[in-house]
Amino acid sequence: MRAETSLTGKVAVVTGGSGGIGLACAARLAQDGAAIVLMARREAELAAARDRLIEAFPETRVAISPGDAERPADVARAMETARRLGGLDIVVATVGGSMGHRPIALHDADSFRAVIDRNLTSAFIAISQALPRMDRGGAIVCISSVCASLPSTFLTPYCAAKAGLEALVTGAAKECARLGVTVNAVRPGMTRAAGVQSMFGEKIMADRARELIPLGGPGDPSAVAEAVRYFAGAAWVTGQSFAVDGGSELALNPVVDNADAELFGKDWPAPWGDPI
Ligand SMILES: NC(=O)c1ccc[n+]([C@@H]2O[C@H](COP(=O)([O-])OP(=O)(O)OC[C@H]3O[C@@H](n4cnc5c(N)ncnc54)[C@H](OP(=O)(O)O)[C@@H]3O)[C@@H](O)[C@H]2O)c1
Repeated sequence: MRAETSLTGKVAVVTGGSGGIGLACAARLAQDGAAIVLMARREAELAAARDRLIEAFPETRVAISPGDAERPADVARAMETARRLGGLDIVVATVGGSMGHRPIALHDADSFRAVIDRNLTSAFIAISQALPRMDRGGAIVCISSVCASLPSTFLTPYCAAKAGLEALVTGAAKECARLGVTVNAVRPGMTRAAGVQSMFGEKIMADRARELIPLGGPGDPSAVAEAVRYFAGAAWVTGQSFAVDGGSELALNPVVDNADAELFGKDWPAPWGDPI
């Protein structure tokens, strides 16, 4: 089924809407005509994000709803703001993050729970607060991570949370199909956004990631937003998750990959020349 080309008349709530991926998703939906409600905790950053959206898409109606995505009442307020703009059609739940590298042996129950709450409980709250308000059907898109399927050293609670999020998405998709609500996920790989950039540093983002990511380095939030836009308009697709990761998930077998590199040369030249 073809994605709808217009979102005119639709209203979208984007949690984490002032963040790198959240704002890119909001912009992509606004580009196709959706009205937008941005939600995050810091009001000044939200207001700045709203101004950037309006500057880029002057026709767009944009509201902000400051609040914590881990608190149901705050999320309910954002959904009600959408209803006041005409209805709730699309929810993009982007709130999440690894909350820093830490060996599992140095986590305690509270620090583990904090990561689960940031990534998994926040998505559950977004879904559960959205459903009763999506009375004309709609689309929910959650932002997962390649960490859902790739074990990542010192990010174990984050991997567990994102794997749980993927299960939440398939379960919710199955239950909500009869309501005309689709539930899908996008799994970004390393993407240029403030949190991840400060966590890894520019050298890793630029040099090491370029070496390890098959399509040549970290992605731009707009690539993730494009996938979110697809799910937002794909009325016959639900319970799916796909990676937008420059091919990171393909680089899964370092032992064989390194042996291949030794046998055939790491940067084997394509006979027709190498475009990257
Ligand atoms: N960037 C990557 O490389 C990458 C890769 C894979 C997956 N992801 C996933 O993509 C999503 C977005 O990441 P990002 O890199 O765009 O992050 P980001 O730039 O750090 O933005 C995070 C956004 O979420 C908001 N936020 C954080 N905690 C919140 C809470 N409890 N309630 C409400 N808002 C909250 C932040 O604003 P306030 O602080 O003002 O609340 C900000 O708007 C996350 O789920 C992350 O796990 C990112």
